[in-house]
Amino acid sequence: MAAASKTAIITGGAQGIGKGIALNLLTQGWNVAIADIDSEAGADCIKEFELFSDAVIFCQTDVTDEISVQSFVDQSVERFGSIHGLVNNAGIADPYNDPVEKLSLNDWNHKLATNLTGYFLVTKHAVPYLRKTRGAAVNIASTRVLQSEPNTEAYVASKGGIVALTHALAISLGPHVRVNCVSPGWITVSDWQKESQRSEPNLSDRDHDQHPAGRVGTPNDVAGLVAYLLAEEAGFITGQNFIVDGGMTRKMIYAE
Ligand SMILES: NC(=O)c1ccc[n+]([C@@H]2O[C@H](COP(=O)([O-])OP(=O)(O)OC[C@H]3O[C@@H](n4cnc5c(N)ncnc54)[C@H](O)[C@@H]3O)[C@@H](O)[C@H]2O)c1
Repeated sequence: MAAASKTAIITGGAQGIGKGIALNLLTQGWNVAIADIDSEAGADCIKEFELFSDAVIFCQTDVTDEISVQSFVDQSVERFGSIHGLVNNAGIADPYNDPVEKLSLNDWNHKLATNLTGYFLVTKHAVPYLRKTRGAAVNIASTRVLQSEPNTEAYVASKGGIVALTHALAISLGPHVRVNCVSPGWITVSDWQKESQRSEPNLSDRDHDQHPAGRVGTPNDVAGLVAYLLAEEAGFITGQNFIVDGGMTRKMIYAE
């Protein structure tokens, strides 16, 4: 099947890594439906993607709200007819929380609702369409499933949940739908934000040098792998978690 007739839906696709994934897929001829809670970012993004205006839609969506999620999936199918790829990416990217003895249940629940339950809800509503096309899903987790800083419990728990959810879904939905996970390390996204908040990355040599690959990552580094995992070439890969971190989690560090 020609790539041009395929449709991907991407949550959190109006900024950051999700926007990089959207641009990569549009460039490869996919149709893309973007869900994001931030309508200003959505409007900016549609303006920037003007070249692809027939192939992209933005739907303001809150992934924690099932009615909003259902409406996003309905609008995507109404516009493009079917869904071949799902990218669950929308999240609260700030990993920090109050120290655990002071962490409120509200803050805990809010992060889990967005970063984990949101992935479940969008998957639930997209699966009937993915089954029909023998499509694929990619869930964005984080290298924080493997290593932690202090005071990151809610974020890390949500990301660990995503890795586990991924293999559970791969088993439940196979052989019709493949489900994989991509865990980015340090990805600089300041130049992929909505216009009012965009800035050039402010990174030091030290930031770059601590990566075996010699640099901090960009949304393009993640997007290439996501596009591959959605494609038929990846037809024998499901239930896995792939690390994209410039080698950072492979580097042994001793305190000086
Ligand atoms: N940037 C990194 O270094 C990094 C590293 C590992 C993992 N990640 C993960 O990658 C994903 C994207 O992160 P990013 O750095 O691009 O962040 P970002 O803040 O630039 O983008 C996240 C997008 O998600 C949207 N969003 C937030 N809550 C939402 C909701 N309830 N419903 C719909 N949309 C919502 C935001 O409006 C935003 O556009 C997140 O899941 C994050 O945890 C990022």
